[in-house]
Amino acid sequence: MADRAPGRPSRGFATRAIHAGQHPDPGTGAVVVPLVTAATFMQKSPGQPGDYEYSRTGNPTRDALEANMASLEGGAGAVACASGMAAIVMAFDLVETGGRVVATNDSYGGTYRVGENVLRRRGLDFTWVDTSDTAATIRELERGAAMLFLETPTNPMLRIADLRTLADAARAHGALVVVDNTFMSPYFQRPLEMGADIVVHSSTKYLNGHSDGVGGILVARDPGHLERFRYLQNAAGAILSPFDSWLLLRSSKTLALRMERHDHNAREVARMLDGHRNVAAVHYPGLPAHPGHELSRRQMSGFGGMLSFDVGTMDRARRVMEALRVFHIAESLGGVESLANHPATMTHASIPEPMRRAMGIGDGLVRLSVGVEDIADLLADLEDALGTLG
Ligand SMILES: Cc1ncc(COP(=O)(O)O)c(C=O)c1O
Repeated sequence: MADRAPGRPSRGFATRAIHAGQHPDPGTGAVVVPLVTAATFMQKSPGQPGDYEYSRTGNPTRDALEANMASLEGGAGAVACASGMAAIVMAFDLVETGGRVVATNDSYGGTYRVGENVLRRRGLDFTWVDTSDTAATIRELERGAAMLFLETPTNPMLRIADLRTLADAARAHGALVVVDNTFMSPYFQRPLEMGADIVVHSSTKYLNGHSDGVGGILVARDPGHLERFRYLQNAAGAILSPFDSWLLLRSSKTLALRMERHDHNAREVARMLDGHRNVAAVHYPGLPAHPGHELSRRQMSGFGGMLSFDVGTMDRARRVMEALRVFHIAESLGGVESLANHPATMTHASIPEPMRRAMGIGDGLVRLSVGVEDIADLLADLEDALGTLG
């Protein structure tokens, strides 16, 4: 399905999520894209492949997913990778040796780890900055940068970066703009429409939505960047498997429905936590007191399902988390089931403690990925768990 029929405006998000790249199979009429597990494809004559040759280079199920993702983010094309980290490393490959990356300081811990412990050794220079501070970020861009890497909202503090203003400033200073859009998904935020060059996702999260597949997506506006990513993916091999591609195509069909419910449930949970006697602080952009609330309303169409809250100490955080019965203690996020994570000892343990503290990630911070269960059960679970603190 083309995004646009002649004479009609572009089709809506939920329609594209179900139909873009997902055409009925011409051979059988099957309305679900076939899962093509073939590693290799027959050639009629030596050296004369058809559309496909070898599944690292190209695979019909992965191609369908890439068309679907490109349509949802509004890019020229997409590349589906083995994990979110594989996608992020491919994006950093656009920076030449000696180049400087200005990046969000409370990005996902793995982004910090690959920058500092892997790519710095290859000659890339990283400056980690609070990108919710627009003036400070622009000052860093003025010092010269090849790339601005933004995560917004951030993980786990839910800080908001001003995408339009920072993309304009980066362009003026000759830096590419990459946005990790994992937390919002294209349903709530489309960075390419606000001037970003490249969007990355850990599709392990909302795009998959069922916690049953690790993957990553890169979407680019510029066909030259896409060509580079495809070359690199074929050369280095970090492809998404046909089965994981097929799962993501299935998940995409319910992305709009799931995101609405995640957002609805998280708003209710944030409101409840915000007034609770045992909670010192709640970080959720949907709360009017959140410093990025107004900006979120301008650049996102929802606030999403992620939030964090502080109960003061490691011991109190542990007691609350161990008392949860519907929320599971687990890393990751964005699945239909609600999860609770302790950033200081789990997802963000690889960030040096002084830096973690400077970012506001204290030992009492708990991050929630609010799922799509009945909201009454989620609220009761949190009430009971917080009640154990007295
Ligand atoms: C915002 C964000 N970006 C990137 C990643 C890395 O993705 P993956 O675990 O699929 O490699 C994660 C993983 O938690 C994440 O939360």
